[in-house]
Amino acid sequence: MTRILITSALPYINGVKHLGNLVGSMLPADVYARFRRARGDETLFICATDEHGTPAELAALEAGQDVATYCREQHAIQKEIGKRFALSWDFFGRSSSVQNRELTQHFARVLWKRGHLDVRTTKQVYSHAEKRFLPDRYVIGSCPYCGYERARGDQCENCTRVLDPTDLIDPRSAVSGSGEIEIRESAHLFLKQSEFVEQLRAWIESHENDWPNLVLSIARKWLDEGLKDRGITRDLEWGIPVPDDIGDGKLKGKVFYVWFDAPIEYIGATKEWADAGGKGDAWRGWWYGEAAKDVRYYEFMGKDNIPFHTVGFPVTIMASGEPWKLVDRLKGANYINYDGGKFSTSQKRGVFMDTALELLPADYWRYYLMANMPESSDSNFTWEHFAGVVNKDLADVLGNFVNRITKFTAARFEGCVPGEGSYGAEETGLIVELDHRVAQYSAHLEQIEFRKALAELRAIWVAGNEYLTRAAPWTHIKSDRAKAAAGVRMGLNLVHLLGHLSWPVIPTAARAIHEAIQPAPKVIPWPGEPMAEFLDALEAGQQIHAPDVLFAKVTDEQVVEWKVRFGGETKP
Ligand code: MF3
Ligand code: ZN
Repeated sequence: MTRILITSALPYINGVKHLGNLVGSMLPADVYARFRRARGDETLFICATDEHGTPAELAALEAGQDVATYCREQHAIQKEIGKRFALSWDFFGRSSSVQNRELTQHFARVLWKRGHLDVRTTKQVYSHAEKRFLPDRYVIGSCPYCGYERARGDQCENCTRVLDPTDLIDPRSAVSGSGEIEIRESAHLFLKQSEFVEQLRAWIESHENDWPNLVLSIARKWLDEGLKDRGITRDLEWGIPVPDDIGDGKLKGKVFYVWFDAPIEYIGATKEWADAGGKGDAWRGWWYGEAAKDVRYYEFMGKDNIPFHTVGFPVTIMASGEPWKLVDRLKGANYINYDGGKFSTSQKRGVFMDTALELLPADYWRYYLMANMPESSDSNFTWEHFAGVVNKDLADVLGNFVNRITKFTAARFEGCVPGEGSYGAEETGLIVELDHRVAQYSAHLEQIEFRKALAELRAIWVAGNEYLTRAAPWTHIKSDRAKAAAGVRMGLNLVHLLGHLSWPVIPTAARAIHEAIQPAPKVIPWPGEPMAEFLDALEAGQQIHAPDVLFAKVTDEQVVEWKVRFGGETKP
């Protein structure tokens, strides 16, 4: 049997993530992990905070904390919010862990010994005010091409030209504003990526048929543009130190570049998981050599991360010459916009995971985001659209269906599954339809086609709702009690079915739905086939209960209030 390894791109440590981050990586990874578990596959879902790099140092500075304390606190906060969003990580680690330090240093040593790393002298911007080197994008000045005054040292945001910090007119530190900066020479480690172009191309093309186009086109573009050797160290204090035995003594006090150690933390966090659970070498069994032969590895990420996962990390692994697992399936997401503009952490624009939960429970967001996942193109969040989807799909269709049938059972059948009457043409027709739809839904999920999967899930809810309207047990109850009873029995079996099928997407509501009928296990398994059996599985006489309101409608007043609170283009 295959085992399923799932990683979600590691959320950066600098603050709570917005819904765009969530839907790009952590949420789809969770839905997939839940689906796999429901199907009975042995599944390991790993995530962690990505804690190194300049943005972490600067965020700590702004918070008035030392970096280690800042990261510890922010990790705990992100972990807590992830739980509240029902993200079912098997482990949520930290890229600053001992495990990751050891693995990162291991990879670097192997790469060094095998001759894939060079020490090269580079020119870096040094700021006297901060007494530190500044990465290119933290140097600002006027753009020599368009005159824009806040052009960054790596690129002008205004005219999009790629720049070098030395191109800027009146360069200064973006952190302190100080113009006391100079260009200094500094030695760094470079990974000779160019040596791996052929091997990389062969590997990428071997996935021609099982990677989405978005992923393939980005990976090919990078190769076609010629792969540059990549600097993998930085002049920072916070990070994984370069060990003394690498670099002929020229790299004292340097740390690895955050994009070198972050993906290695996928492995590091798996080791954290094993260490925390006393599982010894089990982490290797997911990642290394023969023992991991039966593992299928899935990665989830936003599109800006694709190059690092199709090129950067794979080169590290290939260059090691060791049999670490490479990714099998990669799911890349486009962006979701907020009211026509960008979600932005630095500008605090859009809805963030913590504030989202102040408004509504996780399932509302999970359903909306997955149903509108930016899969084939960018998508757009507006409050009206959100309210429309919640009210129609969750409240009117799913919630209303569960509510109608369970309430009616309570009122007219003493809250028990009725045994009288038998299924007729109406029920047989529904079963045929559901046989098809459930198979489609499973297939779309398996293929990681979320929009299609969620459209099918919704169609299944609608089919249940429409069946009930046609079966109309409330009409038949007076004239033909047996007919009404058969309709109610099917209705309750459908509720049970929806509890199973909805669990990967809306786990809390799915549990409540399932529990209307019978106690729900921790992992709600995929419904057994064929549907004909599953939809006649409830025992006559079995007690059920009507759950509380599953999904409340979003009111017009709330939409107005939230638009004011969160901003956006359209003011009320
Ligand atoms: N922190 C990065 C981001 O938010 C993602 C890192 S993914 C990893 O874009 F592979 F490097 F871990
Ligand atoms: Zn410009």
